[in-house]
Amino acid sequence: MITGGKPLCGEVTVSGAKNAAVAIIPGVVLCDEPCRIENIPNISDVSVIANILRDMGAMVRRVDKNTLDIDPRPINTFEATEDSVRKMRASYYLLGALLGRFHQAKVALPGGCNFGVRPIDQHLKGFQLMGAKNELINGAIIDLDATESFHGARIYFDTVSVGSTINIMLAAVKAEGQTIIENAAKEPHIVDLANFLNSMGANIRGAGTDVIKIRGVDYLHGVTYSIIPDQIEAGTYMAAAAATRGKYSVTVRNITPKHLESISSKLREMGCEIDEYDEAVIVDATQRPLTRVNIKTMPHPGFPTDCQPQFVALLTTVKGTSIVNESVWDNRYQYVSELVRMGANISVEGRLAIIEGGHLTAAPVKATDLRAGAAMLIAGLVAEGTTNISNISYIERGYSDVVTKFQSLGADIKKVYFPDKEDAATTA
Ligand code: EPU
Repeated sequence: MITGGKPLCGEVTVSGAKNAAVAIIPGVVLCDEPCRIENIPNISDVSVIANILRDMGAMVRRVDKNTLDIDPRPINTFEATEDSVRKMRASYYLLGALLGRFHQAKVALPGGCNFGVRPIDQHLKGFQLMGAKNELINGAIIDLDATESFHGARIYFDTVSVGSTINIMLAAVKAEGQTIIENAAKEPHIVDLANFLNSMGANIRGAGTDVIKIRGVDYLHGVTYSIIPDQIEAGTYMAAAAATRGKYSVTVRNITPKHLESISSKLREMGCEIDEYDEAVIVDATQRPLTRVNIKTMPHPGFPTDCQPQFVALLTTVKGTSIVNESVWDNRYQYVSELVRMGANISVEGRLAIIEGGHLTAAPVKATDLRAGAAMLIAGLVAEGTTNISNISYIERGYSDVVTKFQSLGADIKKVYFPDKEDAATTA
């Protein structure tokens, strides 16, 4: 429940990156000793993947809110077919991790936030080139078998894909010989996963460029590893600062503000002042009226698709016509109808959203997926009146302590329970 209209100010600290955590935790499956993972975000996606590992036999202990000890040695199955696996997109990283460890993997097909078709053909192409036969069982379970031969390969991705790059990296770490991934994704969490695997003794070079070379090793030793901060969470708070015409510091420890460059430069183009420090950026949207901009989402280092809904919410508050081009997902505008209920003037034509800035008023709205939920939060912080957002479990999948963080910036926001209402975030 949010009462809008307050410019936010103060300081907010960004948590560990969701999309790094959900790759690194399955990555522990490959390790031959226990690991400690620090700076884990306090989100439901992490609990789900940790429980999946537990169900497979791993010993998973929560040391504190942000630290997990994982001993993967007791895992004695290459199957992950429970319903919980289906609920979470990132559980498909178990395909690469289990294939790397057991040369076999049987994993339920992932669901995922509905942005249209979410194929995994590039993942499967990579596994096949590494020697795995694959079969789809009952349209629901992927069965990979590389027991006859499992080896490195040269893999060119037809499309830049975060998930395929991560899955092949995981599979290749212990495969015999060298794997070369061409046209790899370059997101900060890909570099983070490579750093984690290398710290255990893997041999990965080139992560963060479009060619990654992995030479297989036999043994990975246990490590303590701290996950990088969440670039998208940072971008969300930066967009909220701008939308409420506030001024505050977004603290992003252990990440170079370089990772936020595409977001910072868009906000600067709109008229915000952005000061970058080693571990923080200060966003000041109070100096001049903000102006309209156009945005095109692209793989890193382009403008991230995972900040697109938040920026559309911001642009509804800015005078003039802005055009957003979503070039990564073919259908990531389902949330627009919710913003329109709040008075936003947005029309969607294919991959384009045309936004006429104006005035938002409170309405009951639904989070239709994680980042859509973040857009609703931003719209609610700006709108006149009190906005109720339902389905907030989608937001809690990916944003740590979001209510207390916004409260600490001065927002009038609280979490309210309606026990009779179903809250149905079932996919990631
Ligand atoms: N694609 C294919 N074939 C494949 C894989 C992908 O055609 O085999 C296409 C997709 O259809 C899409 C594009 O390639 O058009 C990019 O997909 P990608 O594989 O990069 O996405 P993903 O790995 O499924 C991750 C994040 C998403 C984020 C995208 C793009 C995780 C768990 N998910 O998804 O994050 O939008 O990369 O950056 O890391 C979110 O955090 O809200 C979220 C949805």
